[in-house]
Amino acid sequence: MATRTQSRASNRSSNSSNSNRSSGSSSQDRSVFSWGDSAGPLLGAALAGAAIGFAANYGRKALMQGMESMTGDWDEMLAAEHDMALAIFDKMLATDETQSFKRKMLLMKLTHALDKHSHQEEMVVYPALREANEAADADHLESEHGYIKTFIFELSEMGGDSPNWLEKVREFRALVHEHAHMEEEQVFPRFKQGMDEKQNAHITSLVNRDGFWMS
Ligand SMILES: [Fe+2]
Ligand SMILES: [Fe+2]
Repeated sequence: MATRTQSRASNRSSNSSNSNRSSGSSSQDRSVFSWGDSAGPLLGAALAGAAIGFAANYGRKALMQGMESMTGDWDEMLAAEHDMALAIFDKMLATDETQSFKRKMLLMKLTHALDKHSHQEEMVVYPALREANEAADADHLESEHGYIKTFIFELSEMGGDSPNWLEKVREFRALVHEHAHMEEEQVFPRFKQGMDEKQNAHITSLVNRDGFWMS
């Protein structure tokens, strides 16, 4: 049986035969920053200040997006995010009830990671699945996202010093693991097999763009 890494690699290679992807946006897209010489010095300074603030945030987001982009196609990016979430769960499971602050911080980190991840799937991948006549899978997976949110709600209500905290995290991890396994081993590979290279690149760019704004 192929390992997850092997199957990811083969998924990728199955789509790499015609890997002449479009180069995406041109530098002309950023022409909004090409101000003319006619702006006065005061306006120029104000715009420069705004640009610095924007650039700081844009730079952070671009860096995060760049890190995601390096991981490849949409399904590989989402699989890497599954691994990141499961690693946060493992850190949570390594805590004890005296570490309620650490538990709270890890829960916040997990919430942010899962929120961004779910958004990418719910706004791009599941709608595309429904369009490809795989609505049953999309509906099943989206309903599980609801239970993922329920676990987050219950854990935040419970407090990190609760004696049931670890048990709840263990149940939560099992759900996420099973959900991720269904996506990675069944639903996403089947969906990807039915795509041509252009459709695959399109879904990848949409997932990237959604993740960019959610970062
Ligand atoms: Fe999902
Ligand atoms: Fe997922």
